[in-house]
Amino acid sequence: MSLLRVFALLQQSMVDPAGPQAARIANLGWLLLWVCGAVWVVVAAFLVGGLYRKREHASAEPNLPRAVGGSTALTVVILLGLLVASVITGRALSTIPASNAMNVEITGHQWWWEVEYPDFPPYQRVRTANEIHIPVGRPVRIKVTSQDVIHSFWAPNLHGKIDLIPGHLNVTWLQADRPGDYRGQCAEFCGFQHAHMAFHVIAESPAEFNAWLDRQRQTAAMPQSPDERKGQEVFLSTACIVCHAIRGTDAHGAIAPDLTHVASRRMIAAGTLPNDRDHLSQWILDSQRIKPGNRMPPMKLQSEQLEPLLSYLQILK
Ligand code: CUA
Repeated sequence: MSLLRVFALLQQSMVDPAGPQAARIANLGWLLLWVCGAVWVVVAAFLVGGLYRKREHASAEPNLPRAVGGSTALTVVILLGLLVASVITGRALSTIPASNAMNVEITGHQWWWEVEYPDFPPYQRVRTANEIHIPVGRPVRIKVTSQDVIHSFWAPNLHGKIDLIPGHLNVTWLQADRPGDYRGQCAEFCGFQHAHMAFHVIAESPAEFNAWLDRQRQTAAMPQSPDERKGQEVFLSTACIVCHAIRGTDAHGAIAPDLTHVASRRMIAAGTLPNDRDHLSQWILDSQRIKPGNRMPPMKLQSEQLEPLLSYLQILK
């Protein structure tokens, strides 16, 4: 598990920008690093030089006032330069290109991300969780808010951070210049499972993105085999429907991730577990062991209920 975590973290990096926003931030980061690094080397050189000077000469240095004045002026010039660079970057980041931007709404929950695509009539709206698909090369306007406490949306390969604040809408935008699976992470401490509040931005070609969107707009797959039918019955007759929705069924719960197309997602539990039968089973039986403090109670299901339920959930592609 820990090795898996290390690989997961390698997937997100601010020094490997995949979009114009992240590139600007990375450039500013490198500028700060090189300028401050050069200043550090010069100061360290003078410090070492000073240590080796003969003590009696130190107080009788005729150029000392001019040297101090000159280095103070140089410091001011360097700091002003960095300030200007930082203001220019900030302004560029906040300019939202209005034309052909796509909208995505993100709501933070303890501890997962609700993702909605609002550019369609309400009956066709796509609602998913923890996985944000975007088309490559197109700006995406992201509106963020929170249902409970302050969270922070951060996909380092694509942009800097933006806070999700309860009762307040923040707007930012991002764009991916190349396809990829970019991991993101909540960047504001938001409770016990803050570290397990990850998400993935999946940038794909416009054709692939539209195909994904078409599938997500459809209602859930219907069970075909007796096993899957039994699984749907289990889902609809237990506590699952109190919190989860599956469009096309009687499950309309709105306080936990929408499961209409849960099997299409790569991860479950906000980037915590791979989405396969085994991990899904562990999560349903006792999610508190995996992510203590999360809102989902342990489900006391016998295997004659659990196995059909898993079969049913796995057809929800
Ligand atoms: Cu949400 Cu930290």
